[in-house]
Amino acid sequence: MSTEFKIAIAGLGTVGSGVVKALTARGEDLSRRAGRTLRIVGVSARDAKKARGFAVTGWTDDPLSLAKGDADVVVELIGGDEGIARQLVETALDNGKHVVTANKALMAKHGKVLADLAEKRGVTLKFEAAAAGGIPIVKVLREDLIAHGVDAVKGILNGTCNYILTEMEASGRSFDDVLKEAQAKGYAEADPTLDVGGGDTAHKLALLASLAFGTAPDLDAVAVEGISHITADDIAFASEFGYRIKLLGVARKVGDAIDQKVHPTMVRRSSLLASVSGAANGVLVDAGEAGSFFFSGRGAGEAPTASAVIADIVEAAAGGGASPVFGRPAAGLEPLKRADGKAAASPWYLRFEVLDVPGVLAAIAGNLADSGVSIESMIQRGRAPGEPVAIVMITHETPQARVERALKAIGASDKVRARPCMIPMES
Ligand SMILES: NC(=O)c1ccc[n+]([C@@H]2O[C@H](COP(=O)([O-])OP(=O)(O)OC[C@H]3O[C@@H](n4cnc5c(N)ncnc54)[C@H](OP(=O)(O)O)[C@@H]3O)[C@@H](O)[C@H]2O)c1
Repeated sequence: MSTEFKIAIAGLGTVGSGVVKALTARGEDLSRRAGRTLRIVGVSARDAKKARGFAVTGWTDDPLSLAKGDADVVVELIGGDEGIARQLVETALDNGKHVVTANKALMAKHGKVLADLAEKRGVTLKFEAAAAGGIPIVKVLREDLIAHGVDAVKGILNGTCNYILTEMEASGRSFDDVLKEAQAKGYAEADPTLDVGGGDTAHKLALLASLAFGTAPDLDAVAVEGISHITADDIAFASEFGYRIKLLGVARKVGDAIDQKVHPTMVRRSSLLASVSGAANGVLVDAGEAGSFFFSGRGAGEAPTASAVIADIVEAAAGGGASPVFGRPAAGLEPLKRADGKAAASPWYLRFEVLDVPGVLAAIAGNLADSGVSIESMIQRGRAPGEPVAIVMITHETPQARVERALKAIGASDKVRARPCMIPMES
């Protein structure tokens, strides 16, 4: 085979280990695909003494030296939107090296600047693993579903949240209970905030929106709500109504603007997104006249994420490298024009924890009517005079802003014992 393609890998954790193992095990076939001999020339991580489960060759204590050496591609698998990861990627690009990363936080925050730098240096910057892990959705949006444009991208993009919601439904247990179990099994981080708070989904959504709509990634424009307030009751009620609760990232065109949201959503049990269970991910792309396309699979973990990283490495080695990072030249990435997300209308599931005393229901109905929210159905199960009970209502199609206004008024009552819960329902 002709020339070598030299690979430097910074970060040998879950993803980095997977990349080294797969490159080692399947190097010959991958090299044939690339048309060049793939060779790992340098690796780095924090702890030189850590057992990695593979033979470590080309170790350096200084990851930045990888960006200055003779590697053709630097693979950044450390993580974090600042610090060493950002420095490494910038230095590598600046030194004319291709970069492959799985770092959604970095790309969501600094993607446009980095894309600019890559173009100026005539190298590529690839990030397939940064959104939906093993599902090749970045390539699909960057290169494939382009002829008719994209109207909307919706996804279950965080395996931890999907695992928790799936387990809550299967077992009837609370969020806290299932989260603890997920942490014990290694499905959730010790600090789960970024996952269950929706931030991780927001990073990925900002990237998918950029690829889909030709805008610069705009993380600040994503409205984010996580799943920690979802109760076992919500899951049970959803099921009774024929729905399932999923944490969705949704980016859609509204006229010439884009609405980006992360929030729990009730999806119909018969829908494709409802069928995505456990730690899997799923993405639905509405590609205008071309139709709707659905992708599902493993969104995280050693092998699926390594699969996406290696696809990027092989593409860079094969010379398919210097295509624009977000599917068009960085200078052509327009600033994202924000749609008024609160104008979006849907039916809503509302849950109130109220004291079971006379007049409470009438007061809630009055507040809803004052904001123009009309109720399609209502459930109150059992009575507990003087004690808190749950009241659940389904509204007719109503803009979010109106529902929020009503819930603010309702939540101010001393008869309401917890922040009212509102979840949009797919109509
Ligand atoms: N895990 C997944 O399923 C997944 C999926 C998609 C994307 N990603 C992304 O992939 C990236 C890596 O994730 P991961 O799960 O593999 O993380 P990880 O298991 O925590 O591994 C991080 C690696 O970076 C090294 N590292 C940390 N700080 C460093 C420093 N200051 N200098 C040098 N090395 C340092 C660590 O070294 P030591 O090993 O010596 O501690 C470790 O090898 C992140 O951007 C993440 O968001 C992960």
